[in-house]
Amino acid sequence: METKINDIRMRYEDEGSGPALLLIHAFPLAGAMWRPQVESLHDQFRLIVPDLRGFGGSDAPPGPYTMDQQADDLAALLDHLGVEQAIPCGLSMGGYIAMAFMRRHSARARALILADTRAGADSAEARAGREANAVLAETQGAAAIADKMIPGLVAPGTGQNVRDALRDMIVANSPQGIAAALRGMAIRPDSTASLSAISVPTLVIVGEQDGLTPQIEANQISTAIARSHVAVLPNAGHISSMESPVVFNGMLRVFLDENGIV
Ligand code: MLT
Repeated sequence: METKINDIRMRYEDEGSGPALLLIHAFPLAGAMWRPQVESLHDQFRLIVPDLRGFGGSDAPPGPYTMDQQADDLAALLDHLGVEQAIPCGLSMGGYIAMAFMRRHSARARALILADTRAGADSAEARAGREANAVLAETQGAAAIADKMIPGLVAPGTGQNVRDALRDMIVANSPQGIAAALRGMAIRPDSTASLSAISVPTLVIVGEQDGLTPQIEANQISTAIARSHVAVLPNAGHISSMESPVVFNGMLRVFLDENGIV
């Protein structure tokens, strides 16, 4: 499905019925990364799965795409669907956007799930690395980004099927969208101070072998949010929801059940 949101054409999936889970994808992927969640969880939940601006089937206007702008895109998508409250579930960049959503639209969240992400802003070195990757995408295309990133996105033992699925998603994205998202992440603010204002139940998931946003980052997020806890996903890396979907989905169900959401 698709709709016009804040001057872009946004593609999204909307499957199942029940409490609404808003699944916010990682960089440089697309809503398709959440297929294992949609297929399993649609029996209990309504899964709303956008392709963020710049990715998948959504438009890729000039950037940078700020986290605030993307959070506002999501609020506008919920408006379009007539959904008053949802449970944002963001992985990595999706987590940065979920934290911005909590700053700007907190009344619309019933609970929160942050996976494989961090609260802090980029260091000067990280910002320089993002600019180098943006130029790499613009000059050599999305395949160069896939080659560079995929080894770091998954645990060493993760199978070729997951690596191939990641590559398919990355190479289908436009260099312009990839570069604009990188430049938006580079200017994102530090979310740490705003986390203490989050009052809804929060689950912080991290892959045991996540080398990009390791467990110390999850612990820092959880320390700042009163009603939160960390769940470590064994044998998974950074894209834990794809690498270990059965355990990931089970964690979501237990968390939402324990908090009276289902
Ligand atoms: C992601 O998986 O979304 C990225 O690793 C986020 C980032 O580059 O900071």
